[in-house]
Amino acid sequence: MTGRPSAPATNLSKTREVGGVTLHLGTPDTTDQSWIGQDAVLRQLLACWLVVDPNDRPLSPRLTGPPGIGKTTLAMAAARLRNQPLFICQCTADTRPEDLIVTPVLAEKGTIAYHASPLVSAMLVGGVCVLDEGNRMNEKSWASLAPLLDHRRYAESIVAGITIPAHPDFRVCVTMNEDESTYEVPDYILSRLQPTLALGFPTRDDELAILKYHLPFAEDALLALTVEFLQQAHRLKLDFSPRDGINLLRFAIKRMAQDPRHPISRDAAWREALFCVLGEEAADLQDLARRKRRALGGQHAPLGLGDLFFSPDDPLHPDAEGDSFEDEDQED
Ligand SMILES: Nc1ncnc2c1ncn2[C@@H]1O[C@H](COP(=O)(O)OP(=O)(O)OP(=O)(O)O)[C@@H](O)[C@H]1O
Ligand SMILES: [Mg+2]
Repeated sequence: MTGRPSAPATNLSKTREVGGVTLHLGTPDTTDQSWIGQDAVLRQLLACWLVVDPNDRPLSPRLTGPPGIGKTTLAMAAARLRNQPLFICQCTADTRPEDLIVTPVLAEKGTIAYHASPLVSAMLVGGVCVLDEGNRMNEKSWASLAPLLDHRRYAESIVAGITIPAHPDFRVCVTMNEDESTYEVPDYILSRLQPTLALGFPTRDDELAILKYHLPFAEDALLALTVEFLQQAHRLKLDFSPRDGINLLRFAIKRMAQDPRHPISRDAAWREALFCVLGEEAADLQDLARRKRRALGGQHAPLGLGDLFFSPDDPLHPDAEGDSFEDEDQED
């Protein structure tokens, strides 16, 4: 488990002067967030942010993967490990270029105060910025970040009329979701957001550790039920995530604790939570996987590495574990 080494400096001065303009800084995020398991991807992210020579510069990677797999958590934990202040920009379809850089705000006596975005706050104090869910932003907003993401390392604020250079310690990464409510990020931006670090689902042991970390009060039998469910979903290439497991468990535990005189049984509480959190269709994962494959036009769900080396019915296939779903393809 990767803990938080020590609280990064939060006694940062609240303003900075740039080109004669006073910028009011945002407040760093101080959420305590550990990263459990999957050391390789954490090390890759930390490597991106290393500078190995005076002529070197850090990379700005994108973290990709389905919702709830841990992208934001990983970025936050990496920032903590570097012991730098962390700023998070929550990107949406409505994010405008000035939201990303500097926003003018009406202040006392009709004056204008300039507020630095989380990104610019990180640039000024030498912090880490996570552009969260970056592919929800439109092209115009991305365009304003082009100089920052290449060798120029500065951003221009049109509203304040200034150019803002990034502190040498400034680091950035972008998380991106794979769902339909996102924009296509233009190629010239994608080429600045390299490398791509794709998160995979956790192993059984890691998933158990993640659930235990978030719900240390959960009883072992409930944890085991949930991990078994999630691992089966991962094998079937369904997108149920650790976040789904955490929500499901949390609700089941609350239902069991609700009425100590007439407690609901563990199995009933877990099943009710499954229905309420993930929907009734989650009760039959095999059927859900079959329907998902059908919706993909009769194609198989995305291939894993094992598919490159083993035929689907090979017992040595890493996914061949008792409940193989290949047989059911014949019904389709
Ligand atoms: N390896 C991990 N270590 C600790 N917690 C984890 C890990 N993976 C997932 N989690 C937990 O799972 C939940 C979802 O993680 P997170 O919000 O980072 O996912 P995400 O990929 O950013 O999702 P979204 O795409 O919806 O933003 C969080 O509560 C997070 O703490
Ligand atoms: Mg996220």
